[in-house]
Amino acid sequence: MSSLLILFLTCLVGNSFSAIEVIQNGTYVLDYSLINNETLVVKATVETLGWVGVGLSQTENMAGADIILGGVNENGEEYIGDYFALGNSRPIEDIINNILTYNVTENATHTTLSFTRLADTGDIDEDLPVSRSTYIIWAYHDTDSFAHHGVVNRGSIPLSL
Ligand code: HEM
Repeated sequence: MSSLLILFLTCLVGNSFSAIEVIQNGTYVLDYSLINNETLVVKATVETLGWVGVGLSQTENMAGADIILGGVNENGEEYIGDYFALGNSRPIEDIINNILTYNVTENATHTTLSFTRLADTGDIDEDLPVSRSTYIIWAYHDTDSFAHHGVVNRGSIPLSL
């Protein structure tokens, strides 16, 4: 955990709440906000050309987590999906995609995954509402194959909303 959290910045603006987490010395920077207690806005900027994942979890674990996973593939095509994890294995894509808007970009060194969703999507089978989440879990890989991230390129931080 010591190398995990370098900077933690929060600010309260009206009904909105924002936090920036600088993880792994800036390899993974997570910027997230809750707007009007209703809409979750997330942007992960990660030093990788592979997949990037960010999820809500009631524990610090993958099991039971509500995950968004995306990237830009070798052909320059963006991909992003709404997933959930049953355990320590490749997450399963939700039947209902509850991503409202998204943007995924890649430059020579970094992938940026941005999306919005409702704080409570109403999808009780495959999503977690922010109000019932305690942690954000994060992970990435240096390829676009949904392979194990390894024990370094993943972790969890307390949710600050
Ligand atoms: C893409 C396919 C994925 C596979 C095959 C996979 C596999 C695994 C495996 C085998 C472990 C146990 C070994 C370890 O500690 O690293 C693990 C742990 C973990 N994974 Fe994943 N994972 C995937 C995606 C993700 C994603 C997208 C996230 C976050 C958004 C994530 C977050 C974590 C975290 C936080 C742990 C440590 C806590 C725990 O044991 O649950 N993983 N994963």
